[in-house]
Amino acid sequence: MLYIVDTANIEKIKHCIEFYPVAGVTTNPTIISREHSDFKGIITEIKNIIGPDRMFHIQLTGDTCDEMAKEAHALRDLIGENLYVKIPISPEGLKATMRLHKEGFHITETAIFTQQQALVAAKAGADFVAPYVNRLDNIISDGVNVVHEIVELFKLYDLSSKVLAASFKTAEQVHKISLVGCHAATVNPDILDTLIYHPLTMYAIDDFKADWKNVYGEKKIIDMI
Ligand code: G3P
Repeated sequence: MLYIVDTANIEKIKHCIEFYPVAGVTTNPTIISREHSDFKGIITEIKNIIGPDRMFHIQLTGDTCDEMAKEAHALRDLIGENLYVKIPISPEGLKATMRLHKEGFHITETAIFTQQQALVAAKAGADFVAPYVNRLDNIISDGVNVVHEIVELFKLYDLSSKVLAASFKTAEQVHKISLVGCHAATVNPDILDTLIYHPLTMYAIDDFKADWKNVYGEKKIIDMI
């Protein structure tokens, strides 16, 4: 499963890229607007930080297929390779998905809340569909099950589209979607920290240090070989 970070905060992206095996960055208008900064400046800086090999998912803001297509082309000119244009699912969004797919764009269909939205988006040419796990859990609609059934539908119909689960509030939600074969999860940086934290790990590391220091003092391996 790919881990992706769901933020436009430059410092947080730098932190995640340095310390975690991150496959890319996702943004949406809400996430971008939180930075209160120039859009072009933010996305250019993010692209420079993550480099050519990581995915960069940027959501379009146009209302019509033509507006979305114009935005997609302008973004591709600016960002280049590994751009994924995010399109919220709607009739105009699907029209744009089919058109941009034919034009060779990578597409992430977003704001997915049902299995059939995901299936239709995949048939339209979306590379990824993004179901919102926590928002589904908040309306007692079992986000993990929605992800699971989308994964199963893509397998059943031999579709190459992948599931990029989004909207997480807990490590437990991330773990559960990983168990059902979800292809990717986009999480905020705090969740990444939570995923690897365990107090017993901290105790174990402290014990290793203390036992070593009792015998070898401040010396490290490199001082002794
Ligand atoms: O990528 C979509 C995601 O950002 C939505 O998350 O936390 O606003 O439900 P949230």
